[in-house]
Amino acid sequence: FLITLSIIKADTGGFVGHSAVHPDMMAAARHAMDRAVRSELLIDGHVASCGDDVSLIMTHRYGADSQLIHSFAWDTFQTTTGVARELGLYGAGQDLLSDAFSGNLRGMGPGYAELEFDERPSEPVVCFLADKTEPGAWNYPLYKMFADPFNTAGLVIDAKMHAGFVFEVYDLFEEKWICFDCPAELYDMLMYIGAPARYVVHSVRSKTLGETAAATSTQRLSLIAGKYVGKDDPVMIVRAQSGLPALGEVLEPFAFPFTVGGSMRGSHHAPFMPVSVGHAHPARFDGPPRVVALGFQIHDGRLVGPRDLFADPSFDEARHQANLAMDYLRRHGPFEPHRLPLEDLEYTTMPQIQARIANRWTPLPSPPVPATAGRPASAGAAKS
Ligand code: F6R
Ligand code: MG
Ligand code: MG
Repeated sequence: FLITLSIIKADTGGFVGHSAVHPDMMAAARHAMDRAVRSELLIDGHVASCGDDVSLIMTHRYGADSQLIHSFAWDTFQTTTGVARELGLYGAGQDLLSDAFSGNLRGMGPGYAELEFDERPSEPVVCFLADKTEPGAWNYPLYKMFADPFNTAGLVIDAKMHAGFVFEVYDLFEEKWICFDCPAELYDMLMYIGAPARYVVHSVRSKTLGETAAATSTQRLSLIAGKYVGKDDPVMIVRAQSGLPALGEVLEPFAFPFTVGGSMRGSHHAPFMPVSVGHAHPARFDGPPRVVALGFQIHDGRLVGPRDLFADPSFDEARHQANLAMDYLRRHGPFEPHRLPLEDLEYTTMPQIQARIANRWTPLPSPPVPATAGRPASAGAAKS
């Protein structure tokens, strides 16, 4: 039957700094979630965290962008903010940008990924939660899962996958979207999604099954708020198996700790480290950015799970490589490519510096007139 899986998340306060969520906040969110399940607003719910973000993982029958579900999440985040204030936690209420809830969460701070689908006889899904990075962080793994046969064997040898997948891509700067039909339009698509600060994969659909297989959160808080309010740490839902990538094909892209924008002050490239729930607390240089993968079997809308999928020791080498890459990048200090390019910084002192020293920038003298000046143009261009 038709159900909706929603992950709605917000940073409502950090313990300590921006590194984790306090256990009392988690308890308050779990209490609210239990009540919502008992009152039958939700079919089921699970509260999780990654870094300083609380994620509400919920199944229900109200579709995406439901006022009922979004307002439940908003109220729950108000409650966890209350706990954070009581304990003097850091950045209490950080992602709640508005004073009052007005219909749905769009532009209000919390991030969300939602997927409505007809539950299959067996429905394996993975909920990915990340901290200290941005929604474009999902571009690389989604490309690998749904378009790269070196990652996903099924693209070659599964008849239900061979026709490929359609990627829906958002332009976060100009608020436009487009669909790329892959593999035919792979190279066109890579031109865009290889720039993940601006172009973000929003969803992926199977051409053969006509089913949406993946959905991401695509808000960019820094732009929504018009000023820095914290990195918009993203979440993603991926359905697996039976004509979609197998569980292991969904996880495989994270065996390489590719770099993402985020980490310290949301302004550095750093490796994306796949970790168990117990290790999802970025500390070193407010990083490296973390990703956890919670696996569920959904049955009659119930969330059977989670399994902590990156607890698998086969991701140890990715973690080791992430630490080496972090050492390498850290030694660049304030130099690119560790520091993000000027236009992608979340923090910047540039306007103040410019204002203070603008009048000391002196035009370079015009270049001396070259000795060849005045000769006919053809004289210097004789060789062919
Ligand atoms: C990155 C992040 C942290 C903070 C940093 C400074 O997404 O949240 O790296 O940017 O800890 O925080 P403030 O300015 O709150 O002291
Ligand atoms: Mg925070
Ligand atoms: Mg965060």
